[in-house]
Amino acid sequence: MGTVYLNGQFLPQEQAQISVMDRGFLFGDGVYEVIPVFGGRCFRLDEHLARLSYSLRETHIVEPLSRAQWQSIFETLIEAYGGGDQALYLQVTRGVAKAREHKFPTDCAPTVFVMSRVLAALPEQAPAPIAAIAMEDIRWRRCDIKSISLLGSVLMTQQALEAGAREAILLRDGRVLEGASSNVFAVVDGILYTAPKDRNILAGITRDLIVELVQQHGLAFREQALPATELSRASELWISSSTREMVPIGQLGDSVIGSGAAGPVFEQVWCWYRNFRSQFAH
Ligand code: PDD
Repeated sequence: MGTVYLNGQFLPQEQAQISVMDRGFLFGDGVYEVIPVFGGRCFRLDEHLARLSYSLRETHIVEPLSRAQWQSIFETLIEAYGGGDQALYLQVTRGVAKAREHKFPTDCAPTVFVMSRVLAALPEQAPAPIAAIAMEDIRWRRCDIKSISLLGSVLMTQQALEAGAREAILLRDGRVLEGASSNVFAVVDGILYTAPKDRNILAGITRDLIVELVQQHGLAFREQALPATELSRASELWISSSTREMVPIGQLGDSVIGSGAAGPVFEQVWCWYRNFRSQFAH
């Protein structure tokens, strides 16, 4: 088992312990980030730390560490896991309270936990398509906060897995929002769609990079939540996330999307993404 960081210390994972009175354990009262590491360096670190600051601000948890302190923790862990491609996971909870009361405790310091895991290298060819199912989003109304309270996502992910799928595509008020742990892109009538950044979705860092790339290259693109009724007309559907990067969806429920393989828009954007990230890693 690997090294982890907990409240100022690096230690073997099996020795890292937190109190049962930690607000993260009792209430899911905390926020997190997953930061990809490519070629031994954090990818889009500024964006991930900015989103962390946003989640902390929105939940009124004090910023526990400076940018330099985060960076130094990440560097130590990246080295401990042998460099290369990794996924850093960091979690900040409101801390350990004296009693289990919903209101914010007055005298507690945030709990800070960081671990890492090795990621498989990006494939040379476009990744193989996966199956997904669409379902009503059962999460709360602040999906813009990267909260560790993930029960909604956990239940929907499990429902998708039990249906033989790898991701749940979430619908709310008749619109396509995102995946249970990813953002969603769809191509309809040659136009690429993804949902706007509001309280219904997590503002994915990979999503933002894809948007940057398609805008740079002048691809037909709309930041609009696709009506769910249009899903049956989509010629392409994909998901994006820091750990899965970009993955095409070949089948949604009983329907095959496009040809069932990665479509031409996916192949193009995946190529731009791949170039961008290989320039970063070398
Ligand atoms: N999930 N939307 C949701 C609900 C997510 O949980 C994630 C990421 C994303 C994609 O965001 P990003 O591109 O910044 O990874 C969108 C992470 C990877 C997780 O929970 O493990």
